[in-house]
Amino acid sequence: MIVNTELETKGNLFPGEVKVFEFDGNSVTFSTANNVLLRITVLRDSILRFRYATDGIFENDFSYAIDKDTMHGFNKFEIQEAPFLITIITSKIKCKISTTDLKIGIYDLQDNVIVEEELGFHWEESFKYGGNFVKMNKTSVEGENFFGLGDKPTNFNLKGRKLTLWNKDQFAFNKDLDELYKSVPFYTALHSNMAYGIFFDNSFRTHFDFCQDKRNEVKFWAEGGEMNYYFIYGPKIAEVVTSYTNLTGTPDLPPLWALGYHQSKWSYFPEERVTELAAKFRELEFPCDAIHLDIDYMDDFKCFTWNNKHFPDPKLMVENLEEKGFKTVVIIDPGIKIDADYKIFKEALDNNYFCRRADGPFMRGKVWPGECYFPDFTNPKVREWWAGLFKELVGEIGVKGVWNDMNEPAVMEVPGKTFPTDVRHNYDGNDCSHRKAHNIYGMQMARATHDGVRKYAFPKRPFTMTRANFAGGQRYCATWTGDNIATWEHLWLANTQVQRLCLSGMSFTGSDIGGFAEQPSGELFTRWIQLGIFHPFCRVHSSGDHGNQEPWSFGEEVLSITREYVRLRYQLLPYLYTAFYQYTEEGIPILKPLVYFDQEDVHTYYRSDEFIFGNQILVCPIQDAHVQGRRVYFPRGKWYNFWNDEIVTGGKEYWVDAPLEKSPIFIKEGAIIPKFPVQNYVDEIEIKALFLDIYYKNGNETSILYEDAHDGYDYKKGRYSLKTFKFRGKPGEIIIQQHKDGKFLTSYKHLEVRIHGLPFEIEKAYLDNEEVSLETLDFDPTVNTMKIPKVFDLIQFTSKAKS
Ligand code: GLC
Repeated sequence: MIVNTELETKGNLFPGEVKVFEFDGNSVTFSTANNVLLRITVLRDSILRFRYATDGIFENDFSYAIDKDTMHGFNKFEIQEAPFLITIITSKIKCKISTTDLKIGIYDLQDNVIVEEELGFHWEESFKYGGNFVKMNKTSVEGENFFGLGDKPTNFNLKGRKLTLWNKDQFAFNKDLDELYKSVPFYTALHSNMAYGIFFDNSFRTHFDFCQDKRNEVKFWAEGGEMNYYFIYGPKIAEVVTSYTNLTGTPDLPPLWALGYHQSKWSYFPEERVTELAAKFRELEFPCDAIHLDIDYMDDFKCFTWNNKHFPDPKLMVENLEEKGFKTVVIIDPGIKIDADYKIFKEALDNNYFCRRADGPFMRGKVWPGECYFPDFTNPKVREWWAGLFKELVGEIGVKGVWNDMNEPAVMEVPGKTFPTDVRHNYDGNDCSHRKAHNIYGMQMARATHDGVRKYAFPKRPFTMTRANFAGGQRYCATWTGDNIATWEHLWLANTQVQRLCLSGMSFTGSDIGGFAEQPSGELFTRWIQLGIFHPFCRVHSSGDHGNQEPWSFGEEVLSITREYVRLRYQLLPYLYTAFYQYTEEGIPILKPLVYFDQEDVHTYYRSDEFIFGNQILVCPIQDAHVQGRRVYFPRGKWYNFWNDEIVTGGKEYWVDAPLEKSPIFIKEGAIIPKFPVQNYVDEIEIKALFLDIYYKNGNETSILYEDAHDGYDYKKGRYSLKTFKFRGKPGEIIIQQHKDGKFLTSYKHLEVRIHGLPFEIEKAYLDNEEVSLETLDFDPTVNTMKIPKVFDLIQFTSKAKS
């Protein structure tokens, strides 16, 4: 394939002059003299879709990535014609199409350049496979930055990098390794305080070059399929990312327990070991909600079986764990062992559900069980069959979560570690080879698993996770960053990758805390927990070959520090759950990299150590050994040190002390942070009071709190509570207004409030404009704590009586 820019102008084909263009309500289609079609569809005022065809016909319009329920409606769609130029105008942008060469330029309404094209669309015929290699070159303006692209283990800002998307099992991967488990062909670009996004909806092997070959050029191309991409205008990064996430869909809310701490290892067996593990967590009062069983729970690694020697009565074990507050999560891989006596194998064989090579034989490959065949999850019938297989595991045995692995798909001992590209797939009725289906195989397996677990977990919510994924796969599953290593560099990588995934629509994600391969020191484990408790998915997992990785394996000090941090996560669950609500409802990422938080501040463009957890907590993990602190960049605004309430004014870097027990955590001033009491597992105790930590600000700040029954689907019928707290503070007075939406009634009656950083002494309190005595509120002036009833519209504290 031609990727050299000089050759591009020689060996590639380009659109000719536009001969006709047609308008049909929400799109315009251009045809050129050499039979190229370009259809530009306006999805929203800030979202345009571009599709190109080179033989005068479009392929069947089918995408696994796009969430069909979203994206309709725009305010304005106007077309202006001028010599050699057609302009599409919406209420947000102008898109200019040159009729001489079909090159596109996109501008804001003041004609500022957002992005223009260099070579623009071009293609190369693929004689080997048929079809085209489709390519796009755009110009990059001075100072442009690039973010996104899924799980790439590289620097956060992608400027100067060339990357490929091809899902790959990469045990013990290293920094800057290119092909990894997931493919998310979406990036956000930022220049001149304007952000836009490109989502290249093409599941073939795709490539991106962010100004590496040429410093003023961005390229993306695919080894087949259509040039089919979405342009998303901001101008805020937040708008680009949420629009992309809505375009490709969001998941339902997970059950609250899934946001607790998970403990995993390859593998906990036999049953006695699992029971001991569970008992140890409770004995040490180390919070934990889920125990994961890796491949050894199965009989001979055969999916949907149990090793009866090690697990004689799985249902009873799962019940016993449940009684102690543990949910059981089990692994399920795609490889089905070739074994004529194995029911699942026979069913799939009889129904022709396995993938085949081009000339007919089944796709055969080695994974944990030895030689396997692989279901074609791109076939809707196969997905339905697969979903049904969870009846026993979830519906009868009571397993609460399923973890899909090796679904890149991974094949052992073969070049490329995956299927050969001739393997055939159904692709939901759009028959194709593995070249097209490879990157979405894992996503479709995850989808089938999710459908099954959801069905049999009902009326509870499912928990599913997957290692491989594609854009849009966030609708089905949580994910993790795969087989990392217990090194400081991997702690840094985990931080970067999880932020990157959050900017790529996949917020429900975390890393193998402590590292999967090798063994961490107690110090590394502690620092990793201090990061991991702020990741949307929080699980300790390790290969187990290199020693134990339970929190008590590193001695008393590590145990007691990590327990405090995991307890902090449990205290912050209402805050985290609210961030999940905003993610699932509005597509807002749960972690916000600093550039997302404040894109006007150029200091954030290359920062990735610090991030915002939810909306108002700044976290900066310690990522080096033997340090007692670090420099932290504070975004603009004022921040309270979580540990001592000292106030820091942002827009600058400061040294922050961080002995092993103190990881840097800061709270935005004006924030109202909801907290639960410490629990050993979600719903262990009935919540009698919700804690609200209020951080005084001379000014205004809005905080929100989402609550529901923690599980089940009543929230979809309006049984949720969404509270908005509007804080207004000035010397001598604070006012908090509360507004509630939704029908859910929380079980607690009052709020335990604590006001931090209050610059005056409270003398008077008013609830809905009626004065209340401070004694009835149990007011403690030494720490500014009090109890207030949960129902109020307005509460006011003043340093003197109201005049
Ligand atoms: C893969 C997974 C890992 C798992 C192992 C055994 O390496 O990434 O998490 O423990 O397989 O199933």
